[in-house]
Amino acid sequence: MTAIDEIKARLDIVDIVSESVELRRAGKSYSGFCPFHHNTRTPAFAVFPDTGTWRCFGECNEGGDIFSYVMKKEGWDFPAALRELAERAGVQLEPLTPEKQELYEEYDRLRELLESAVTFFRHQLLNSPAGEKALQYLHERGLNDETIEAFGIGYSPDSWEAATNHFKAKGYTEADLIDAGLVSERDSGGVYDRFRHRIVLPIRDERGRMTGFGARALDPEGLPKYLNSPQTDLFDKGKILFGLDQARKSIRTEDQVVIVEGYMGVLAPHQHGYTNVVATMGTALTEDHLRLIKRFSRRIILAMDSDAAGIKATLRGVEVARQTLDREGEIRFDARGLLRQEGRLKADIRVSTLPPGMDPDDVINRDPAEWEAIITGAKPIVVHVMETLAAERDLEDPKTKTEIAAQVMPLIEDVPSSIERDTYRQRLARLLRVDERSLLEVRGRRTTPRRRYPAQRPPSVQPTPRVITTSPVEAISTREVHLLGVLLRRPDLIYHIDRQLQEDGLNRINNQDFQHTDHQVLFRLVQDSLHQGESEPLHFVLNHLPEAMMSLADIILARTEKIDPQGKDVLEDLLRALLRLRATGVSQQLDHLRYLQETAQEQGDIRAKEFSNAMVQYVTLLSRLHRARNRYTNHSLTN
Ligand code: UTP
Ligand code: MN
Repeated sequence: MTAIDEIKARLDIVDIVSESVELRRAGKSYSGFCPFHHNTRTPAFAVFPDTGTWRCFGECNEGGDIFSYVMKKEGWDFPAALRELAERAGVQLEPLTPEKQELYEEYDRLRELLESAVTFFRHQLLNSPAGEKALQYLHERGLNDETIEAFGIGYSPDSWEAATNHFKAKGYTEADLIDAGLVSERDSGGVYDRFRHRIVLPIRDERGRMTGFGARALDPEGLPKYLNSPQTDLFDKGKILFGLDQARKSIRTEDQVVIVEGYMGVLAPHQHGYTNVVATMGTALTEDHLRLIKRFSRRIILAMDSDAAGIKATLRGVEVARQTLDREGEIRFDARGLLRQEGRLKADIRVSTLPPGMDPDDVINRDPAEWEAIITGAKPIVVHVMETLAAERDLEDPKTKTEIAAQVMPLIEDVPSSIERDTYRQRLARLLRVDERSLLEVRGRRTTPRRRYPAQRPPSVQPTPRVITTSPVEAISTREVHLLGVLLRRPDLIYHIDRQLQEDGLNRINNQDFQHTDHQVLFRLVQDSLHQGESEPLHFVLNHLPEAMMSLADIILARTEKIDPQGKDVLEDLLRALLRLRATGVSQQLDHLRYLQETAQEQGDIRAKEFSNAMVQYVTLLSRLHRARNRYTNHSLTN
């Protein structure tokens, strides 16, 4: 992922635009008055969260991504917009210094070492007598071979030097082994195997790269029960969620993540098809965890142990959760604005409690349906807190009532949506069997000033499973990268593409064919490279690229390495990709135009007619695009 992709993944276009435009939900998109031109009645400005883009269907008739939005809004060039948004997203932009380069190469080497440790432990599990016992233990715990393999679970032999010797023989030094966290140092010098006679679980980052291990003692008396890798450059418990590499896809498609405590709590659900589960590893949920997870879904369910520690961890997690999500975007809304913002994409955190003394794996092994019920029954934070506080308390005692109310009311006051607040207040009143009005008195005792928040999705909305594997942003990005990768090597193809497009009655390839601003910048340079005598086209592009985009060019070139730019199908291939990009954009815009047309008509806005005409044009264009594309689809292999 380039820094630019990272920024896009972290920032929400709806958030950014909402700072200057009041947006209203309109189906899958949002509508508002264009900030770039004087407006009449119908809000002709649209934001598409799915693709991370915006477009003005009015006078401007222009669109783009967050970068182009900020550029236009602030009058900045691309590097300036990039700097600003990088800062907001907390993404580091510095170009790779030689030192950093060296460090990254070192990390890669450590990952390789850890990867070969996975193989070593796997081998021990599957091919040694002691491993056989370990395997038996895993089976007894209900794990099948498929799960064991999917998670790369292994066994570390009961020895002080088996692993050390194995890796030394492969050419790794003691320093390497220490850096990777595979060994411990002796006071007297030298090292010994850190993991001995344990089940070892590889811990990977969200991209599947090795970071460390969690290792469970096989010996019932073995202490500690779980021994993790020490903190290393790669492994930081507070930043990694176990299982995210396996879970990320379904977290995205289901738009929901379940966070449990502990390794076993991930394995059993995955085995039973609940693959959106990740775990903290014996630490409270941190802000970093939430930032990480938010990139995949904002619907978060915390499934915590019911024991005291679990509840405490939950409450602590809740604290962190509120702080993290509060901080993004200090947008101001009045009550009406709040209502309007209802449905805006914000995190929805819920808590579910497991039956006393049970872990997720216990629940699932007893009855998978019970797990499902627990997850579905997850409660909004406030409700969870009030019920937890009230559990096993004497609710007839007025002092207890006061105490609970005093703890819960400030929390309720912090909830952004008034509907939710009312609901929670009613619920608390019912729970404590007091009059709601007496609760409002408690509110007066707030010490912190009331903050304002954008509205959250109401708690009753159930997640709708989506059947997509890659997001629309990714799909568009992939096609744009494809086009650019070839054009960087063969800028002359632009002429051929244009000739073909004109034959089909279509516009020439242009900047607006690319939704990503960084891609637009690159495309413009490729075009410029055709009209200069300074240097080879590719060199020209690289020489004129903004510093922050160097890695982008590298990545694009690397990703398209396999395409033969001289191949005989390359032109058709590009045309197909381009037409598809255009068609995607046009049908998205058509959807929104339909909405605009209807709205304008309802309001008697004269522009209803304009929108209708535009729709006709778009439909014509779309069919022309489809027809052109079909022509290239027949005589080529790929699509
Ligand atoms: P638990 O004690 O609940 O373990 O600790 P568990 O996940 O149920 O594992 P089993 O079922 O006994 O095998 C929860 C998590 O806390 C961390 C581990 O990540 C563990 O999965 N932990 C626990 C440690 O890091 N060290 C320990 O000694 C114990
Ligand atoms: Mn357990």
